Amino acid sequence: MLGRLNHVAIAVKDIAAATRVYRETLGAEVSAPQDLPEHGVRVAFVTLPNTKIEFLEPLGAASPIVKFLEKNPDGGMHHLCYEVSDIRAARDALIAGGLRILGDGEPKIGAHGKPVLFLHPKDCLGTLTELEEV
Ligand code: CO
Repeated sequence: MLGRLNHVAIAVKDIAAATRVYRETLGAEVSAPQDLPEHGVRVAFVTLPNTKIEFLEPLGAASPIVKFLEKNPDGGMHHLCYEVSDIRAARDALIAGGLRILGDGEPKIGAHGKPVLFLHPKDCLGTLTELEEV
């Protein structure tokens, strides 16, 4: 079911500072930041040869990242994202296997304009896990 690792997401307080570290110190290619108000986040992507890193900065007080950054004030790894070919088929198989899907279980359009779902971290080794249909 699982395809490639699409990205690893890191929650950050300051996406400009994170971009400077990756662009200037680590020498990576970082996209311009993009606001996703429906997800409550501002994102930027680091393109690596084999995958991407997604920076997540809170956008608005109701952002799902606010609580995470209270617990992890320096930022930290927030989720992994795996590619799947059919997100609804993957969801149904995972639910049948006893995993919980966050939210209403319906795929939402994510940062790449593709359908995404999140699996409950308690069912995935303590790691928030995103599926993206590609
Ligand atoms: Co993501």
